[in-house]
Amino acid sequence: MGHCDNGHSADLGTPGAGSMPEGNNAESDALAMAHLGPYLLGPNNTPENGIYTGDARELAKAIPDESVDLVFTDPVFSDIGAYGWLAAEAIRILQVGGNLIAESGKYHLPEILAAMMPSGLTWQSMLAEVYPMAWARVNVSKTMAGWGPYLWFSKGARSGPWMFDRYHANGPDKSHHKWGDNPGFFTLYIGYLSEPGGVIFDPFTGGGTVPVVCHHLGRRYLAFEIDPDVAQRARDRVRDMQPPLFVPEPEQPALFAGVKVAT
Ligand SMILES: C[S@@+](CC[C@H](N)C(=O)[O-])C[C@H]1O[C@@H](n2cnc3c(N)ncnc32)[C@H](O)[C@@H]1O
Repeated sequence: MGHCDNGHSADLGTPGAGSMPEGNNAESDALAMAHLGPYLLGPNNTPENGIYTGDARELAKAIPDESVDLVFTDPVFSDIGAYGWLAAEAIRILQVGGNLIAESGKYHLPEILAAMMPSGLTWQSMLAEVYPMAWARVNVSKTMAGWGPYLWFSKGARSGPWMFDRYHANGPDKSHHKWGDNPGFFTLYIGYLSEPGGVIFDPFTGGGTVPVVCHHLGRRYLAFEIDPDVAQRARDRVRDMQPPLFVPEPEQPALFAGVKVAT
C-alpha cells in the first residue's frame, strides 16, 4: 500500500545494551549489521532483541544462510514484489526442511503465487484462517469470504507434521496495528512448525504478532518493520507481555559457529 518510506537507514540495537543507537550513518549501520547474527542468537527476553527498524530487503542480507527454522509473515498484499523477494530469501536462509508461511490476499493470489514459485521452494498447501463470524458476501465487484489464505511452502521435499486446525475463536487483533493478525492462529501454526528455541523470522512484523507469539512459545525471533513508530509499538507490546512460563536456554547451534555475516 506504499505508505512507508523505504529510504531511511537501518536502526539496529547494540547487543546487550537494551537501547537503540542512532544508526544514521553508513559506518554505524555497517557495525550494527555485523551484530545481526549475534542478536539472532541472543536471548530474546528483552523487547529490543529481535525487532529491527528498516527495509527487510536490506536487513535480511545479514542473516546467515540456512539459519532459520520458520519464516512466518504477513506482507502487504498488493506488494507482489515483496512476495517474490520473500520466497527467494526464504530458500537461502531456511534450514533444509524449514517452512515458509505467508498470509496472502485473495485478489492478488494468482500474481503472488506466480512471484513465489520460481524461488525453488516446495509448495505444500494453503491454510485457511476462518474468521470468527464467518460471513461470505459476493457480488460482481467484491467478494468478502469468511476466511483468509496463508500460503505454505517448505525447503526440500514435501513433508510436514500432521496439523489439526481449530476454530480461530478470537479473530484478528487490530488494537496494535491496522492490519493486526490473529495471535491464536499464529500460535497454532508456529507451535506446529517449530520447536522450542527455534528461530522464527518475520520480515514484515507490523504490530509484532509474531514476536509476541514467539515470546510466549519460547521461540527465538527476528523481526523487521520499516515504520519506526510501528516497530516501537511492537517492542512495547512484547515488553508489556506477561512473562512466558519458561525461557529456553539460548544455544549456539554449530551451524552458526564462525559464520561471518555480510556487512
Ligand atoms: C500486514 S502488516 C503486518 C501485520 C502484523 N503481522 C501484525 O499482526 O500486526 C505488514 C507490515 O509490513 C511493513 N512493511 C512493508 N514493507 C516493508 C519492508 N520493505 N520492510 C519492512 N517492513 C515492511 C508495513 O509497514 C506493515 O507494518
